[in-house]
Amino acid sequence: MHYPTALLFLILVSGAQAFRICAFNAQRLTLAKVAREQVMDTLVRILARCDIMVLQEVVDSSGSAIPLLLRELNRFDASGPYSTLSSPQLGRSTYVETYVYFYRGAGGEGPGVHGSPRSLGLAVLPSLVLVPLHTTPKAVEKELNALYHVFLEVSQQWQSKDVILLGDFNADCASLTKKRLDKLELRTEPGFHWVIADGEDTTVRASTHCAYDRIVLHGERCRSLLHTAAAFDFPTTFQLTEEEALNISDHYPVEVELKLSQAHSVQPLSLTVLLLLSLLSPQLCPAA
Ligand SMILES: *[C@@H]1O[C@H](CO)[C@@H](O)[C@H](O)[C@H]1NC(C)=O
Repeated sequence: MHYPTALLFLILVSGAQAFRICAFNAQRLTLAKVAREQVMDTLVRILARCDIMVLQEVVDSSGSAIPLLLRELNRFDASGPYSTLSSPQLGRSTYVETYVYFYRGAGGEGPGVHGSPRSLGLAVLPSLVLVPLHTTPKAVEKELNALYHVFLEVSQQWQSKDVILLGDFNADCASLTKKRLDKLELRTEPGFHWVIADGEDTTVRASTHCAYDRIVLHGERCRSLLHTAAAFDFPTTFQLTEEEALNISDHYPVEVELKLSQAHSVQPLSLTVLLLLSLLSPQLCPAA
């Protein structure tokens, strides 16, 4: 198999007590959508909860939606500044989307994230690799099995068993039956810890109850850092009606909180997080 080169980014986390990593299907995020006050307001508050967020389904052709969102986020949350990093356009045939990482960086002293863009050839090996995926509902099984092979490739390439797979996997309800879910390599192979469990509801509509959005941890060190993981019911927290919430997304964000001080095996003073921007599998590679 031939793998196109991945784009990579390195972030050093130091001293932070707890560290929250999130994924959110922002449901066709465009400039027009972000420009609406209630949408902007809610998105900013969702983003401000996270040290690293992977926003999925960014379909903005203007190129202005993310800078606008970033500016508002940095106005709202003084613990930043936040920065962003976008993937190339990813997709199959006519449908393309971008994944955008928002991550918190701190100036001066204190806990925070220090980011620096690198191409290949990192000086330091990552202690944690993030691999986002938004599956297409028509090929959930195929793509999740491809994700397993991406995992193998990534963990070999970066000599790290500590990997977090996350995003809207469409891993439930009509898109993937429980029987088929349990046959995935990510379920049958040992070592994968699905921290957003099958019974969770990651959908906004009261009429649906599906665990589409997932976070899967791999690696002993990674698991030893696990503090909490949950879908974030933003409509309840921000007192939005279902209708108002649906103007933001029909998905909840999913979040995992890692606690650096909890690790008993290795005591990391810093965590090197590698953000994978472009998936390596041929099925999942960037649109031409
Ligand atoms: C949802 O967004 C549309 C378009 O801006 C707006 O007209 C509508 O009032 C919004 N709905 C709610 C419940 O806020």
